[in-house]
Amino acid sequence: MTADTVITQEVSAVGPPNALPRATQANAPAQGSAAEDFFAFGPYRLFPRQRLLLKDGNALPIGNRSLEILILLAERQGEVVGKNELIARVWPGINIEEGGLRVQVAGLRKALGDGIGGACYIKTVAGRGYCLVATTDHFESAGAIARGTERGQAQRLPLPLARMVGRDNDVRKVSGLLRTTRFVTVHGPGGVGKTTAAIAVAHDQLASFQGDIHFLDLAKITEPHLLPVALASSFGLTAPTSDPNAAILELVRDRRMLLIFDSCEHLIDAAAALIEKILREAPDIRVLATSRETLRADGEHVYRLSGLECPSVEDEQSAERLFSRPALSLFINKVAASGHQFELTESNAQIVAKICRRLDGLALAINLAATRVPTLGLSQIVGSLETNTWLFWQGHRTALPRHQTMAASIDWSYSLLDEDEKAVLHHLSAYRESFTLDAACEAARQVLLTPFDDLLVIDKLITKSLISFDAGQGLARYRLLNSIRSYALERRDTAVSLKEPRRTFAASGYGCSVDSSRTAPVGTDTIERTRRIGMPF
Ligand SMILES: Nc1ncnc2c1ncn2[C@@H]1O[C@H](COP(=O)(O)OP(=O)(O)O)[C@@H](O)[C@H]1O
Ligand SMILES: [Mg+2]
Repeated sequence: MTADTVITQEVSAVGPPNALPRATQANAPAQGSAAEDFFAFGPYRLFPRQRLLLKDGNALPIGNRSLEILILLAERQGEVVGKNELIARVWPGINIEEGGLRVQVAGLRKALGDGIGGACYIKTVAGRGYCLVATTDHFESAGAIARGTERGQAQRLPLPLARMVGRDNDVRKVSGLLRTTRFVTVHGPGGVGKTTAAIAVAHDQLASFQGDIHFLDLAKITEPHLLPVALASSFGLTAPTSDPNAAILELVRDRRMLLIFDSCEHLIDAAAALIEKILREAPDIRVLATSRETLRADGEHVYRLSGLECPSVEDEQSAERLFSRPALSLFINKVAASGHQFELTESNAQIVAKICRRLDGLALAINLAATRVPTLGLSQIVGSLETNTWLFWQGHRTALPRHQTMAASIDWSYSLLDEDEKAVLHHLSAYRESFTLDAACEAARQVLLTPFDDLLVIDKLITKSLISFDAGQGLARYRLLNSIRSYALERRDTAVSLKEPRRTFAASGYGCSVDSSRTAPVGTDTIERTRRIGMPF
């Protein structure tokens, strides 16, 4: 199985034969959506639009490519589907050997238990292709479900990404957390994939909330005091401005519901206050928030979302295996979508791995870089990543303004920093790789008026996803993601005038006054000391 999306959904009961299984009803799109098709064969139900495969009512983990093969075979049940046609559907625009297809079909057979106890679902027709031989029924059902709209019109849940890669584990873990805690925040830097993961979790949880899931995109709200009004009106409450909190509580108090607050960072205080209030007064409500900054609210359980998995420098697996890693898989999907013919070769795999590592596995950055392949080519992309120009590569015309470029994405976070935080961030950009907390604090002290604020400011930058850290084993390591470091370097010149180093280091024992005219703002004393405590600088 590839590291593609795995959909996990626990469903407690199976519907009667030939009826829409319960999971289907719960998973059906929001009200008013089109009818939903499914195929039934043996103990399986396959929902192509939802990209969901159920066995006896329970979701079966299956990679995206295997699922795509199964969907095509089910659409053409009883027919032999040629290898080239399958390859074109599963790897559009990519030249791939038949071996790759064989691996996926083998994975699919394993997932289906083909051959076990005499079961036979997929047949290989030598020299031609594959055929789904199991008797397959095709059902069309009214997929709409009741969503408690009698108590307010629920906001339509955004559809999950058709090709979400590498988040099966995260979706499973966040879904698990929502079973045991009432409030989970998916926390991480801009463009890492928080909204995408939260939407996937929402779809994963439709059954357990009986479809009562409400999604609110806070990015569209600019004023904190408008948050309750926006939530109330998203419920379809009319004229809720007089006392929106009361109207919301009235609506949700007795409801078992999942509320999703997407993109909270710019309204962090208002979001924390509203969520706490709802959780206090509505015992069956659960909240899933996404935010670049943790909410620090009562009951919050933070789930840190990291970049998509990339192979390490030492990883010398075959091109096929490397390209099945989530970050690389996203990259080639995007290249293919741009209409570019892309050869999967050993050397290409290593170059793409390098690009993805450099982009820290950030889904947004990978998308932006991949769309540059047709015009720049891989080598030029690697070269551009050594400069800061890639921060300004344009994405989709229709993307959210803060997702148009990496610079715009980081601008959104940067604009939420105070002057101290900005100054420390610029200063930390001198570290090329990871650093210890000790070194971060020392760099902070060089630009802060109040020396004992160093830890406080570093802590704030961590909670705002501008400093990443790896608790790992032993001493925790901290670093700026490459995109954030490039951005901070880009702005560093203006930063020096924003906040010049103001302190002399006599008291700290380093005995060095800082020269604000230096291009590298961290003093040589710091460099010496960081060398001693073993940090790359
Ligand atoms: N796992 C994924 N697979 C494919 N594309 C993804 C994935 N995660 C994110 N993306 C894409 O990356 C971009 C940024 O994702 P998003 O979820 O909006 O990030 P965030 O909410 O962290 O800012 C979007 O265009 C989204 O479609
Ligand atoms: Mg988001």
